[in-house]
Amino acid sequence: MKHFISVNQLTNKDIISILKTAEEFRDNKIEMYEKAFAANLFFEPSTRTKMSFIVAQRKLGLEVLDFHAEASSVQKGESLYDTARTFEAIGANVLVVRHPDDDWYKEINTNINIPIINAGAGKAEHPTQCLLDLLTIYQEFGRFKGLNVVIVGDIKHSRVAHSNANALHRLGANVFLSAAAGFEDETLDFPYITIDKASETCDAMMLLRIQYERHDSHHIRENYLENYGLTKGREEKMMDHAIILHPAPVNRGVEIDSSLVECERSRIFKQMNNGVYVRMAIMHSLLKNRGIIHENAFEERKMLHIEGISS
Ligand code: CP
Repeated sequence: MKHFISVNQLTNKDIISILKTAEEFRDNKIEMYEKAFAANLFFEPSTRTKMSFIVAQRKLGLEVLDFHAEASSVQKGESLYDTARTFEAIGANVLVVRHPDDDWYKEINTNINIPIINAGAGKAEHPTQCLLDLLTIYQEFGRFKGLNVVIVGDIKHSRVAHSNANALHRLGANVFLSAAAGFEDETLDFPYITIDKASETCDAMMLLRIQYERHDSHHIRENYLENYGLTKGREEKMMDHAIILHPAPVNRGVEIDSSLVECERSRIFKQMNNGVYVRMAIMHSLLKNRGIIHENAFEERKMLHIEGISS
């Protein structure tokens, strides 16, 4: 794998391997390595993805080259390709990119020779979010096969829905969608069910934020929770073992009753925690494949450090 742009690049075996490596990182079973540089090129706002990539990079021992588009030469008209190429030229070993265009990677993936990781592409894909969601589900149920997973909300404009629906289906889950009129997506071939049926039948409910920044649907907010969201009444009808997921940020009181964000069945903050380890696993895999890091480097660096202190 040269870059990581879509979950579709991964076989089911690859996915399980990444989830296992993520758990090994969580359990401190893998040690890291020699100095390499990571650059985070975010052209859209982010809290979780950007910060968990930074935590993951620092845990891996990478030097982080931070970048703020609003204070960069993007303001002078520099293209995404030239920005990425510049980071490669100055020594970045891996690029993490979030951009509002669905196809941004097509502009840059041919001539860039360091790994590029998709941290969110418009409405199209959010593959590392998908993997952290899969890890959270797998930790809960130990399987995907036969699970009823319903994705609820602004499906049409959600990169999370697009990455997750197909990956979950491929892994054997029964995927259902639930959306207000206008939020359905004809590119996803899965059955639509009402939020009431979803609440009563799902093993995992994956709620989505209304993506106001991608369309003009502010009027839909009226009675949205009662008509399409997870109210306390619906949560009470969920099966005992059923869990709630949400990629966040959450519109409290819109797609989910605010009191349910941290309820017993919510795994929303666990998802964020898992994001660090999944991102470590992805970067570790890409950098190791390129020979940028290797198994013994951590020990070598530790020895150099000890020698440096004692001399
Ligand atoms: N889930 C997610 O992508 O959150 P951020 O937009 O805060 O990164």
